Amino acid sequence: MLLTLLGCSYPLEKRAAPPQLISAAEMPGANNIDFSLIFSQVLTPQCIGCHSSSRGRGGVILDSYENVFKNLAGVRAAVAGNQMPPQGPLNDHLKELLLQWIDEGAPLQLAQPATPPPPATPPPGAPSIPAAELNYITVNKLVIEPMCLKCHAEPANKGHVNLETYAKVIENIAAVQKTIAADSMPLRSKLSLEQKTLILDWIRAGAPEMLSVAEVVPAGASSTELIP
Ligand code: HEC
Ligand code: HEC
Repeated sequence: MLLTLLGCSYPLEKRAAPPQLISAAEMPGANNIDFSLIFSQVLTPQCIGCHSSSRGRGGVILDSYENVFKNLAGVRAAVAGNQMPPQGPLNDHLKELLLQWIDEGAPLQLAQPATPPPPATPPPGAPSIPAAELNYITVNKLVIEPMCLKCHAEPANKGHVNLETYAKVIENIAAVQKTIAADSMPLRSKLSLEQKTLILDWIRAGAPEMLSVAEVVPAGASSTELIP
């Protein structure tokens, strides 16, 4: 039932994102780095393990655009000064990527996509998931609850992984992203392409709980103001 509801237009509809607030692509030196790239390449693999909402080491939470934005100056200082991650500095490529993104104004989205999106031709009548619904409620209802909770809720907690609440999902977000991208979870069943795209897009968008990440950015905000 839920699967039918999902339809197959989601991957196309998601491009109808709210207008971006920062046009980094128009800034000199812009290099096509946006939050989704930083989130998937740097924050998820290197930082979230210690800076999720349930494990905010040093009081720093880096699990969404909003939270990263709040800590921008601290993130820059900690990474540029090789203090974070504590087990050793980021490699030059990741460090450069993160610092450049911050120095270019930490855009959520680029004004012009690096590659043009495929033509939006959703099948007539298919239900669609607007970008504003790229949130935990939707992902939980369409993916986690039907496909994961059989094994990842009390009392089963397979692999000692519990995915029953937003906080628990965020705590495991790097492993969730990895296992889904590699098709190794769910065990003994398979996500539809739409489910896989939905949850991976959600993670790339900062895994927001309630709103689409674009909606939580204060209107007219200039991220560069946060950098000393
Ligand atoms: C192994 C756990 C761990 C990882 C991984 C980690 N941090 Fe931290 N982070 C901490 C702890 C613990 C603190 C608290 C301050 C301290 O003890 O240095 C902290 C503090 C911070 C602070 C606050 C400023 C400061 O230096 O005290 C920032 C900003 C920060 N981390 C950013 C990051 C970023 C960005 C990454 C990924 C590139 C990252 N951290 C990866 C454990 C971690
Ligand atoms: C039929 C049971 C079953 C279902 C359904 C299932 N899992 Fe798992 N999962 C397991 C078992 C068993 C383990 C531990 C052994 C392993 O890693 O293969 C595990 C481990 C994991 C881990 C930890 C792996 C690691 O590398 O740390 C994650 C993350 C995970 N599952 C996510 C999910 C997600 C997300 C879903 C839904 C999309 C899901 N699982 C659906 C049984 C299941």
